[in-house]
Amino acid sequence: MQGVLFDLDGVITDTAKFHFKAWSRLAQEKLAVTLPASFESDLKGISRIDSMNRILKFAGLETKYSAEEVNTMAQFKNELYLNEISKLTQKDILPGIENLLDQLAANKIKLSVASASKNAPFILEKLGLKNQFDAIADPAKVAHGKPAPDIFLEAARKIAVEPSQCVGIEDAKAGVEAIKAAGAIAVGVGSSTDLNEADTVVANTGELTYSILEQAFGKK
Ligand code: BG6
Ligand code: MG
Repeated sequence: MQGVLFDLDGVITDTAKFHFKAWSRLAQEKLAVTLPASFESDLKGISRIDSMNRILKFAGLETKYSAEEVNTMAQFKNELYLNEISKLTQKDILPGIENLLDQLAANKIKLSVASASKNAPFILEKLGLKNQFDAIADPAKVAHGKPAPDIFLEAARKIAVEPSQCVGIEDAKAGVEAIKAAGAIAVGVGSSTDLNEADTVVANTGELTYSILEQAFGKK
C-alpha cells in the first residue's frame, strides 16, 4: 500500500445531513415537493447536478426546466449548503480520522482526496486538515461522477501512485463501485449489506486504522 484515496463526505466529516437539509428546502420552495428521508442516503456520493436531476425526476418535473434554470436551482442549493458548512470546525472531524491520518503519514503513505464535492477544499480548510493531504482531486476536471472510476483515478494520478497500490475509503455504494472500477482496494464505512462490494467493511470511522487498511490491501 503506497497511497490512500479518501472520500470526504461521510468519511472525514458528516455532511449528509446538511446536503439533505439544503436539498429539502430547495425541493419545498422551488418544486413544492417534500423529499422522503431515504434521499439523505440515496444522494451520497452523487454529484450536485446528478442529485438535482434525481430530485426533478422524483418531482415529475424532469422536462419542465431549461439547463440554465436547473443550474440556477443547483446553485441556490449550494448557497444554503455553504451557509451550513461554513460553521464546521476541527470538532466536526469524524472519530478516528485524525489518528489515521497521523499513522499513515508516519508510514510515508501518500494521501489524496477523491470527493465528488466541489466544496472539498473549503471543507478541509474549515476542519483544519488541508495540509494533511498530498493532493485533492478536482471533480470539475473529470468526465464522469461516481460510480464511474474517474475521480479515484485522478486522485491516484495526483499522488503519482498506481491505483492498484492504493486503498480507497468510502461510505457510499456508488463510491465503493468507483474504487473497484478504478482497480484499487475498497474499504467501506457503514453497513456491510449496503457496501457488500467492498473488500473490507468497518462499521464506523473509529475502526479505521493503518493496520486495517494494510490488512485490506493484503487481501488482493
Ligand atoms: C458528495 C456528497 O461527496 O458530494 C453528495 O456525498 C454531493 O451528496 C456531492 O451531492 C457534490 O457535492 P457539492 O459540494 O459539490 O455540491
Ligand atoms: Mg461519502
